[in-house]
Amino acid sequence: MAPSDISAARRNFLRLLAASPLVSAIGLPAVLEALQQAKPLARKKVTPPVAVTPKDALITAASEAVDVMDFEAVARKNLLPAHWAYMATGVDEDATIKANHEGFSRYQLRMRPLVDFSKLDMSIQLFGRKWDTPIVLCPVAAQKGFHTEGEKGTAKAARAKGHLMCLSNQTSTSVEDVNAARGEPVWFQLYARPDFAGTTQIVKRAEAAGCPVLVWTVDLIGGSNRETLRRGEGPLGVRAPFCKECHEGRVVPMAQGLPIGGNIERGGGGVFTWDYIKRLRDITKMKLFVKGIQTGEDGELAIRNGLDGVWVSNHGGRAGESLRPTIDSLPEVAAAIGGRMPVIVDSGVRHGTDIFKALALGATAVGVGRPQVWSLAAFGQEGVEAMLDILRRELQMTMRQTGATSIDKITRASIIDRMRLG
Ligand SMILES: Cc1cc2nc3c(=O)[nH]c(=O)nc-3n(C[C@H](O)[C@H](O)[C@H](O)COP(=O)(O)O)c2cc1C
Repeated sequence: MAPSDISAARRNFLRLLAASPLVSAIGLPAVLEALQQAKPLARKKVTPPVAVTPKDALITAASEAVDVMDFEAVARKNLLPAHWAYMATGVDEDATIKANHEGFSRYQLRMRPLVDFSKLDMSIQLFGRKWDTPIVLCPVAAQKGFHTEGEKGTAKAARAKGHLMCLSNQTSTSVEDVNAARGEPVWFQLYARPDFAGTTQIVKRAEAAGCPVLVWTVDLIGGSNRETLRRGEGPLGVRAPFCKECHEGRVVPMAQGLPIGGNIERGGGGVFTWDYIKRLRDITKMKLFVKGIQTGEDGELAIRNGLDGVWVSNHGGRAGESLRPTIDSLPEVAAAIGGRMPVIVDSGVRHGTDIFKALALGATAVGVGRPQVWSLAAFGQEGVEAMLDILRRELQMTMRQTGATSIDKITRASIIDRMRLG
């Protein structure tokens, strides 16, 4: 307390004392003596329930994470520098990663208290299947490079927490084993290969494993200049001798038996246009998404080419240095789709408020990429579960505060675009 506050408090106390009936009954000296002899009130020693952690201290258990970024530093400590660089990389100087993240701050929430949220419902429907929340685990390649549990750890977390998981076709665990760990077939992501026979083999294997949805990723077809990855790999990408064990001579599970061994091409080297949708349709009955849509024109083409859904994404800033955050691409794509098919969005989602804003701008569901890697690399399955819990809790709180008691009540009117003030 400041000295001026202390003397003001003292003056107030004396004024109260002078007006007290006790003083008129027994006299001021007797009251003062009684006060002096009185024992001070026993003070309870307050121990904070949890040690207050400085923002940059490393958490030591998944349960200590306050937000999803808390996993990032632990992942960095745990990972080989080259694996870290593979995860962290964007394109050129990584500015689209930053733009993705900052893009969300353009929108503000319109708070609506005094709404009964006792029956809050975060569920969504996708192709007749109900999901408890709109939070999706994006396809992320080579997860054994982040934790020995790999994709199985992520799948078990998705199962425990009831989330939709999309498996990368560059998975380090076979789709069959991931489905077994998930307890039901996951969605399957595809990088089309230059050889259609190879693509067909992968697609048919995913379908035979029961995967209900095929997500064709198209945003890397032109290639991506990943500077951070190249720097992390060391001069000219030379690997340490022990890296050979995983990187050389081994064929990733989904490429087994295919003419080109090793990693599946990421769609480079072939000629791919919208006509490819028909070719895929001819070899599978799975529902078909295209991942990497960023414009209204391509949203319209998605409708015209008979897709079942679009995934708005710039690959977490790994696909092109466009500097346009996906949260800014979303409205024009959603307008073109006009509610005729599901729209999933990802890139830069780190808080429940980000998910809420994406839903308000027309997304059906929202994906997370790097938070999945950070939490897996930090604590395996337990980490991914904790990460999902955090996002779910944050979204729930945001829905309560904005008076949106179900996902369909999250609308454009739930947020303000501060660039346009409306
Ligand atoms: C390490 C890593 C691997 C990825 N692998 C794939 C992949 O195999 N297929 C794919 O479609 N997207 C892949 N992505 C992109 C994610 O699916 C997603 O679009 C992106 O991570 C979302 O952005 P965020 O990381 O900011 O959440 C990968 C992303 C990361 C970080």
